[in-house]
Parts: sequence; structure tokens; C-alpha cells
Amino acid sequence: MARVALVTGGSRGIGAAISKELKDKGYTVAATYAGNDEAAANFTEQTGIKTYKWNAADYDASKAGLAQVEADLGPIDIVVANAGITRDAPFHKMTPEQWREVIDTNLTGVFNTVHPIWPGMRERKFGRVVVISSINGQKGQFGQTNYAATKAGDLGIIKSLAQEGARFNITANAVCPGYIATEMVMAVPEKVRDSIIAGIPAGRLGEPEEIARCVAFLVSDDSGFVNGSTISANGAQFFV
Ligand code: CAA
Repeated sequence: MARVALVTGGSRGIGAAISKELKDKGYTVAATYAGNDEAAANFTEQTGIKTYKWNAADYDASKAGLAQVEADLGPIDIVVANAGITRDAPFHKMTPEQWREVIDTNLTGVFNTVHPIWPGMRERKFGRVVVISSINGQKGQFGQTNYAATKAGDLGIIKSLAQEGARFNITANAVCPGYIATEMVMAVPEKVRDSIIAGIPAGRLGEPEEIARCVAFLVSDDSGFVNGSTISANGAQFFV
């Protein structure tokens, strides 16, 4: 039977490309979304991928949603924690609410998504966890103390999970996308965006599919010895 893959924030942007790539590779895919019903309905219509609505920042909602996915599709073998938001502001202007929203969704959201299904992965002795971090978790970014903190935190999560999961044949890895042509990056003021692109040696933004292919590699049955790693896909903008 096809393995079941769950992608949070999987109906738009990088997440949608990941959902499609995994479906094309033969996995049974469920994509979650938090609010945009219309985008989710269009996504399902175009791809045939089932979508589920819950807020990754809410533990109880995540737990109930994940249980529903497993009731519908079977045990989740693969989880891609992709859901993320930005609330950019220079630190002196950042509000506690902007700080909290980003931490709750991007960082606690990873806990909420993986924790309820982790015991099942341990029991079945198979699991693939991929967290979508960011170049800005590796290098920091003006205007993103909140976001960079969460994306750096993701790397701590996967390195720890890798150590806990390895003996159960569970891997936990991260992908750090650079600047990818999605709505999130298009929301950056044009002048700022132009200067960012000028700093990317590849001379362009990345495509969501370029991240999706990294994820497909990490979740495959064949990649079991790749554990606690980070793939940086950023057009040579930054090296760790
Ligand atoms: N480096 C240095 N200085 C900068 C700067 C930068 N990157 N950006 C702004 N500044 C300076 C401005 O020139 C300005 O200087 P002066 O006061 O001397 O004029 C000062 O900082 C304050 O700027 P603003 O008043 O314009 O600040 P603002 O309140 O309007 O906020 C900002 C600006 C929201 C931080 C805006 O610059 C911005 O959106 N930056 C982009 C942040 C970014 O890269 N976000 C990534 C989003 S995509 C993503 O997150 C996906 C991913 O994983 C890669």
C-alpha cells in the first residue's frame, strides 16, 4: 500500500508543490490549510489531493485533524511540517503579538504536527519527518527576528528528533529554502526584493518545485541513513 504523507500548509506555495510532487511519486497525500477555503478547494479540484482545515498553532485541533486523516487514509508515515507565516518588522517596531503569532505557527506548529503521530511511527518502526526551515534561520534577516528564531529552532528540533528516532528507522531532516517565487516573497516590498535577488548568485528566485524535489528525496524509503541533515537550496546565496 502507498505510504501516507501529510503536508501542513500543503495547498499553497512551496507546500502545494510538495504535495503534488509526493502524489506524483505515488504517495497518498493529505494537505492541510489554515484559512483559505477557496485556494484549498481549487487545489483539490486541480490535483485530486484531499485537504483538511486546521490551525497548526493549535495542539488539540492538530491532534484531532491528524486522527481524522489517519481514519480516512491510514497511518501517517511521512510528515512535512511546512506551514509558516511571516510578520516582518524591525525589532524595535515588533509587537508581542507579531512575535507570538510567528512562534506559535512556525515553531510550536512543528511540535503540534509531529508529536501526536510520533508514537505511531515508533510502533511501526518507520517514519519520515521533514521540516521546512529557511535560509533566514541559518543567517538571520533584517526585519525577521521572530521568523529567524523559529527557523533556527526547526534545525534544533530535527537534530534532536533524529537522535531519538534513528533506532526506530525514523528520520528527521530539514530543507532550508532560499528566496522562492511564492506569495510570501512577493509580499516583500519590491525595492527590498530586487536587492535580495541581486544578492543571489543564481540571479533568480527559486521555484517551489526545486524545494519539493529535495523533500521527495528525504522522505523516500531509500534515504534512511540521511538523518538530522539540512539541505540548503538557495542558489548559492548562503553557505553554512
Ligand atoms: N538591511 C539594512 N537596513 C535595512 C534593511 C536591510 N535589509 N531593510 C530596511 N533597512 C533600513 C531602512 O533603509 C531604514 O533605514 P533609515 O531609517 O535609515 O531610512 C530602516 O531600516 C527602517 O526601515 P523602514 O522604516 O522601511 O522599516 P519598516 O518598518 O518599513 O520595515 C521591513 C521594513 C519590514 C523589515 C522591510 O524592510 C522588509 O520587509 N524587509 C524584508 C524582510 C525579508 O527579507 N523577509 C523575508 C520574507 S520571505 C521569507 O521569509 C521566506 C524565506 O524563508 C526566505
